[in-house]
Amino acid sequence: MKKNKIKETGTLFETNLVKIDWFKESDIKTITDLRNKYRNNFFDNQKLTLKESEKWFEKLNIPKESLLVIRLKTNCIIIGIIGWSNWNFKTKTAEFGRLIIDYKTVLKYYTKKDVRILPNTIIKGIINFGFNQMELDKIYTKSKIDNYKSIAIQKKIGLNGKKGDTIFSFYITKKEWKRK
Ligand SMILES: CC(C)(COP(=O)(O)OP(=O)(O)OC[C@H]1O[C@@H](n2cnc3c(N)ncnc32)[C@H](O)[C@@H]1OP(=O)(O)O)[C@@H](O)C(=O)NCCC(=O)NCCS
Repeated sequence: MKKNKIKETGTLFETNLVKIDWFKESDIKTITDLRNKYRNNFFDNQKLTLKESEKWFEKLNIPKESLLVIRLKTNCIIIGIIGWSNWNFKTKTAEFGRLIIDYKTVLKYYTKKDVRILPNTIIKGIINFGFNQMELDKIYTKSKIDNYKSIAIQKKIGLNGKKGDTIFSFYITKKEWKRK
């Protein structure tokens, strides 16, 4: 099996406004607060204490799964998270998700007009990272059926979507992505 080449600390990729970094131990409290604030958008919507969250981070199977923080480039403040799970080195597939953008924080520094395309650029950025740096052939994502914003963004980016009873599943192959 070919060993993956991605680094496991520091910045993984950047967009014009943000940089996407591996979490540091000192970020866990901020990440836990964000996750609890937006927990109803996720399949596992249990509220976590800081202790429970720290245990979850201890068990995180890096690099097969990840938790990345989204920081504003101008001041390094955390404005969200993103990540992947189920990275299979053999089939070259992974599931991307865990996206939160906390506009309450973003809008302290930017206007809504400045950051309108923020989710699109971040999702496109991580898909490019997945195909180029992680060398994936296929990327999966899924959203709760009532998460209209998340579904709308993924459709707009051009992922192939399939509506189920409780889940909206998406995927895109490297070949399809290159053609866009
Ligand atoms: C998901 C998230 C990143 C989206 O960012 P956002 O800036 O709030 O999204 P927007 O308000 O631009 O909405 C995205 C799209 O959904 C559309 N939309 C909003 N409400 C909608 C609704 N009820 N039905 C259909 N489309 C809707 C918007 O029109 C927009 O599309 P457009 O750019 O073509 O106009 C952000 O809301 C977030 O972090 N949410 C909490 C966590 C979460 O749900 N994560 C995803 C888990 S899979």
